[in-house]
Amino acid sequence: MISVTSYTLPDPSDGNARAQWETAGRPALLNAFAGAMYGPAPHATNVACRLVERREWPIVRGALRFELSVRIDIQFRYFDVAVALYLPPVTRVLPPLFVGPNFAGNASVDPDPAIPLNSAWMRPEPAWGMIANRATDAARGVHGGRWPIADILKRGYAAATWYDGDLCPDDPAESRPVRDAGFGGAIAAWAWSFSRVLDAVIPLGMVDSRRVAAVGHSRHGKAALWAAANDRRIGLVVSNNSGAGGARLWRDAGGETIADLFERFPHWFANPLRPFAGREHALPFDQHHLLALAAPRAVFVASADDDAWAGPVDEQRAVEAARPFFTLYDREDALVWHRRPGGHGIGPEDWQNFLDFADRALVVSR
Ligand code: GCU
Repeated sequence: MISVTSYTLPDPSDGNARAQWETAGRPALLNAFAGAMYGPAPHATNVACRLVERREWPIVRGALRFELSVRIDIQFRYFDVAVALYLPPVTRVLPPLFVGPNFAGNASVDPDPAIPLNSAWMRPEPAWGMIANRATDAARGVHGGRWPIADILKRGYAAATWYDGDLCPDDPAESRPVRDAGFGGAIAAWAWSFSRVLDAVIPLGMVDSRRVAAVGHSRHGKAALWAAANDRRIGLVVSNNSGAGGARLWRDAGGETIADLFERFPHWFANPLRPFAGREHALPFDQHHLLALAAPRAVFVASADDDAWAGPVDEQRAVEAARPFFTLYDREDALVWHRRPGGHGIGPEDWQNFLDFADRALVVSR
């Protein structure tokens, strides 16, 4: 086993460099991230997909909306995830797919008043229409800008989204049952949910399984990157303002620290990360290695100039440090750092950038 502390990329001019990376470096780093940062995810599962409803989606002519109930077995427990799958108007080829969780339930991203409200535990966010940790009618459409379904469909993409709390509620106590089922933390559980949703959606045969993009904002951006590291069905990953534990370097960086993360979100990362609080330099890897784990697939790191907490400049540094791993595959153009003015957030303008990038970079995944 190589030591990841000292892991440096084999010289790309060495004809064996790519093979060395794939057989030794990559597996070692994947283990190191699972061991020291995100923690494990369970193996044995059964994923059963039940079609709850199929109907024409009134917002885009010719589009369809499917309500899926995805039951995920983890040993002796099961979790039901409600997945909203949207298909663009039919063309001769199957559409590529964007997948990612949402923060406030499927009704929060869809302006259609007929979407059922999710009755699960919700974050205490009155501004999102949450009262006593439950969604009210005021939650409807509140995150339409974060997941602009109509824009996505009009560009010819399908979209699948689900409430992150269906698998792992974002709370130390509420997330206890799912963490006890074998997850190192909430980020690992959310990352895993991308893969389980793909397990459910791909066999339906309605999307192009070779053109799948994973997308996540902020905490979900951390999860999207970890999902892409683990699941090669993901051909493109969009990390939006993911920051600490996502696309941002730890070493010599400003913004959120490991201590900050554990203070506010003790359930997100695995316990072995705790001792690195204040000792980020001692970590056996840095986050450019997480980006490297997606190579040669496409990666779009979206930063916002005023989002100092996430650290746009230190996200850029991570991207540049990761680029040689993409060069190994002659895919240096598949890794992009994008900055925009303004603060932490995701909206329709960001999505236009994601879709533009997907149009050119979402190639058949290998
Ligand atoms: C907090 C947290 C970040 C996270 C963000 C979000 O700001 O400190 O790590 O990315 O929430 O998910 O919006």
